[in-house]
Parts: sequence; structure tokens; C-alpha cells
Amino acid sequence: MKLTLLLHVTGCSPANMNWTDDFRSRINLAPGVANLNAGTLSPTPLPVLEAAEALRRKQALMPHDFFFREAGAILKQARTALGDELGAKARDLFLLPNVTWAINLAIRAAERLKTPGRHVVLAANCEYGSLLHAWSQHQASGLQLRFVSVDSCRSRAEILRAFDAALSECAGQALAIYFSHVAQPTGFVLPARDLVELAHRHGALAIIDGAHAPGLLPLDLGKIGADAYGGNLHKWMMAPTGAGFLHVTGALQDALSPLVVSWGAKHLSTHNRHEQDDFFGGTHLQGAVEFHGVTDRIPQMVMPQVIQFWDELNRDRVRARQKELSQYAIKTIGAILEPFVQPDDERQWAMTAFKFEPCDRKAFRSWMWNHDRIAAVTTRLREDVEETGQDTQPQPYFLRVSASWFNTTDDIDRLTHALRALLRLRPREVFPA
Ligand SMILES: Cc1ncc(COP(=O)(O)O)c(C=O)c1O
Repeated sequence: MKLTLLLHVTGCSPANMNWTDDFRSRINLAPGVANLNAGTLSPTPLPVLEAAEALRRKQALMPHDFFFREAGAILKQARTALGDELGAKARDLFLLPNVTWAINLAIRAAERLKTPGRHVVLAANCEYGSLLHAWSQHQASGLQLRFVSVDSCRSRAEILRAFDAALSECAGQALAIYFSHVAQPTGFVLPARDLVELAHRHGALAIIDGAHAPGLLPLDLGKIGADAYGGNLHKWMMAPTGAGFLHVTGALQDALSPLVVSWGAKHLSTHNRHEQDDFFGGTHLQGAVEFHGVTDRIPQMVMPQVIQFWDELNRDRVRARQKELSQYAIKTIGAILEPFVQPDDERQWAMTAFKFEPCDRKAFRSWMWNHDRIAAVTTRLREDVEETGQDTQPQPYFLRVSASWFNTTDDIDRLTHALRALLRLRPREVFPA
């Protein structure tokens, strides 16, 4: 009885103690830190860090040889490994620094397919603010952004019905639907495959922001069938910072053009874009889109080592543990702050949100860090709504808790204690919004 209690307090239930302790010792998380923010970035597993450092040493010692002779083959292996992991053909995958880059590319390609009769983009109303800015850049040239309310939907079926109604209302004018596979900060998982099928039935493209999906959900991009799916590998998947991808197919792939134009672009006009290009280790199109001049691409090169770590980690075990921890967070933090969902909600996996007082977000982060080395963030439900014309209602604030497999119940308890202390101080007065 006493042992069970002790293990619980230290965050290790008997069932997962060996597994989590073993793997926690293989990640490079600083001691004493409660990192409840895999939703921004994760610590890097030591074998991945070592592989990246070995490549970086090579690059530093023999830059010319590394860049001109070795890099292409390493990137090719990385695309193949990622394609195998995500159910995608390597030639449809573009390795990029992050999902922001990926979605910007997809938006640019969609814009090229726009016609006067098909110019409406239907976006979920809980999209990430920076990427709404990317969409709204194109409003001046006639692309129209309309929002579909999904945050008030109680189930995946309701989300589908909301999009279906919006598409029908558009009467053939919808160029694309756009949504996050895992919405933030709520952590809702949207029914990606069903939404893609729905969009296609209405003759619209489907563009998905999968920022949080790799490492949080089982992912089969081939089955989801989106025209464009952007993802981050440096969040839940634990790749080094600077690793993301775009998976793009069909007409949208044909319309793809580089955001940063460099040497690859010259091949695009003179050769078949799908022909092999040995210098960049992919097709001409991949070379044109991925190569932004000389940059450090090592975070993308170590995908085989990231995936090997996941093979050892065991994906099913990770998902079960993430769900268990987020349910624990809903129960414990939910005793003091209103949770967005109940623990058994079908929409929720590993990220959870709790209603919070409006406050200065930077000051909140610093307070948590200085108080007890806790990494957690607050965010608004909908960002920058005024500028994108979504609505002008004041938006509620949320505490976002990302519960990754390497977290413990002790991390969540520390956050709960810190919140109790902070709430006694009244955050609105400590750091006003
Ligand atoms: C839903 C969503 N999309 C996009 C992004 C942008 O990610 P990045 O800055 O790594 O490109 C984030 C970051 O948290 C996000 O939560």
C-alpha cells in the first residue's frame, strides 16, 4: 500500500515504472523540469541528439564534401524513413523546417488553383493564428476566408455536419476546406479522413494543419487522402528543432512552387519536375521546394534515428500513457479550473485545455518557470480574430497542458500546486492582460 502511494507520488504507477524510467533516462530532459509543453517542442532523445551531433561534426570538419557529396543521400533516406512511418510515398513528401513553412506552401499552391467561381476557403474556427495570417495575405486577390464553428460541436459527427452544411451553403464556390487535425489549445482531434472525403464530394480541396499529429496520433497520410497535409516533427515526435514536412498530391502538387527561390527553380522550368535529381536526393520539385540556399538541414536528416527511437518506445504504449496522463490532468487541474472537455471525451487525446483568466502570457510563462521550473502555456481559443475578420468577441483564455509519455503525474501535481498558489495571488492582478 505504502509502496503504491510512493510510486504514485513520484509519478510512476507500478505498471509503467520500468518502461517510463528506462526511456526517460534516454531523453535529454534537464533534471527538475516539468516539461508540460510538447505542444510547442519536446526534448530530444539522446540517440537522436548523438546522431545529429555526429552529422554536425562531419559538416563542420568537411563542409564541402558533406554538402556536395553526402547531404543528398542522407536526405533521401530521411524522406524514405518518414514516408514509411507516415504511410506516404517519399516523392510526395517535402522536408521543411516546420509546419508554418508547409502550410504557407500549400496556401500558395491553392491560390494558384483559385478561379472566380471557386474562391472560398472554409476554415475551422479554432485555427492557429499565424497561419490565418498566411491565408488572409491572399484575401486582397479575391480569396475569401469563411469560418465553420467547430469548437462548440460536441462530437466528431457534429463537426462533419457543420462542414457539410457550410460546403452546401457555398454552392460549388468552395476552393478548399482547412482545419487542424489536432486543434490547439483544446486538443480536439478532428475526423480528418471523413472531412477529406466530404470536401472531395463537394469538389473542394482539403488542406490540413497537422502540427500536433505526428507522435500524438497514429497517422496514415495515404489513407487520410488530403491534398496537402503539413506536420511538425519537433513537437510530439521529438525530432530536433527545425523538422517538419509537407505531404502534397495531385493538382495541388502540380501547382506547388518554392517559397524561397534558389537553384532548384531553374530545373523546374527545363526538366520534368518529377525526374530524379541526385544533388538534392529527391525529385527536381523536392529540390526546388526544399532547398533555400545553404542552411542547416541536420534536424531533418536524423529522421531514421527518430523513428528507430519510436520503434523501441512502442507507439501503442505511448498513446495509452498520454491518454492516461491527460485524463489525470483533467481530473486534478479540473478541480480548480474548468476543463474544456471531460476525461472520457472522444475528441480528446493528449493535449487538454482549462479556462483561465485573461493575463499577460509571457509573464505567466515566466512565473511558472521561476516558481517551480514548470513549462506550460496559456493561449486564447482563437487568435488574431479581429485581423482576419472572424469575429470581434473577446476570446477566452486557456491554460494548455500537453501530456507527453515522458511526463509524470508528479509534473501535473506540481502544475496544480503552482496554479493554486497563483490563483491565491490572482493572476489578473499579478500580470494583467
Ligand atoms: C495548430 C498549430 N499549427 C501551427 C503551429 C506552428 O508551428 P511551428 O511554429 O513549429 O511552425 C502550431 C504551433 O504551436 C500549432 O499549434
